[in-house]
Amino acid sequence: MQKILVTGGAGFIGSNFVRYMLNNYENVHIIVLDALTYAGNRENLNDLESDPRYIFYHGDITDRKVVNNLMSNVDTVVNFAAETHVDRSIHKAGEFINTDVKGTFELLEAAKTYKVERFLHISTDEVYGSILDGSFKETDPLEPNSPYSSSKAGGDLLVRSYFVTYGLPVLITRSSNNYGPYQYPEKLIPLFITNAIDDIPLPLYGDGKNIRDWIYVEDNCSGIDAVLQKGEIGQTYNIGGGNERENIYITEKILDLLGKPRSLIKPVKDRPGHDRRYSIDTSKIREIGWKPEYDLQDGLKATVDWYVKNEAWWRQIKEKSEAYKAFYDVQYNNNK
Ligand code: NAD
Ligand code: TYD
Repeated sequence: MQKILVTGGAGFIGSNFVRYMLNNYENVHIIVLDALTYAGNRENLNDLESDPRYIFYHGDITDRKVVNNLMSNVDTVVNFAAETHVDRSIHKAGEFINTDVKGTFELLEAAKTYKVERFLHISTDEVYGSILDGSFKETDPLEPNSPYSSSKAGGDLLVRSYFVTYGLPVLITRSSNNYGPYQYPEKLIPLFITNAIDDIPLPLYGDGKNIRDWIYVEDNCSGIDAVLQKGEIGQTYNIGGGNERENIYITEKILDLLGKPRSLIKPVKDRPGHDRRYSIDTSKIREIGWKPEYDLQDGLKATVDWYVKNEAWWRQIKEKSEAYKAFYDVQYNNNK
């Protein structure tokens, strides 16, 4: 029986990962540790509440006592917990340093004390920075440009140091931009889908030609699983969807899928420090037998359908959450 501590399991990718593991393995026990920040939602795991192989613990990864307590009961850690939104990090960076750096440190210390067998740290392609031609390999230097990506890079480097210095059995994944069910409606795809449903303008930053490589969340989950089972200890693996597109392309696809007019697109002021293009080389993870299964068109259609069917889920956030409204007051002024 594999006992896994999944931090940040009530968030977007974490909740999809917990579901993926429980669906694919009989002999797995999962403890979710989540602080339920504005981005965390226990409802994301509602369908799993009655599964005896899953337990939810409400707590913070920066809380040493809590982390030590849980770490003594598991053999594996998968660390998703993080502050994750670039625009929020530009507005207010403190929590990013606290969770993404200090929180990672607390988890590493406890993992060392309790001698866990695998510590998988979830990172992002954003730590490499922007690249106009070619694609980043895992060995390329980190040149993060936002407070978000630099706090993630800080976490990655700490993880590396615990392998080199203490022999902690670590692994790192750096994935490209995820999309799919349960993504908080502040990120490009769910924000634009839900705005379009309501005929509200879609605020497209700058010239709309920034490029992201989109991966359907389930493909990232299978990639994380592959690294957990077959990855070489101490190594980092890029996980990319192989779907590089300009933001304007994604925006128009969303409008087409919903049958909405292009006139909803509203060009707004660019994001400060906006990375032009993310691109990663995924040959290393393909060598351990992983590849993405979802084609971008199918993944986008499945995602649009999910937001159409689960209107109550996102309306609760967009219409009831004070944290959401407070942030959008700031964004609205920034975008003018
Ligand atoms: P998310 O914002 O949807 O969820 C983050 C979760 O972490 C939430 O449930 C939140 O409550 C929890 N959390 C935050 N601070 C915490 C703390 N101090 N203690 C415990 N829990 C805390 O994020 P996501 O999009 O699911 O991203 C998950 C991970 O994947 C992050 O580490 C992120 O950097 C990485 N990542 C995300 C993407 C993407 O496109 N979403 C791409 C690459 C990497
Ligand atoms: P986002 O989903 O915030 O992910 P990241 O910045 O981490 O890649 O943004 C994806 C792209 O979409 C990015 O180039 C910024 C752009 N974007 C907009 O044009 N408008 C928006 O309202 C948002 C949230 C993002």
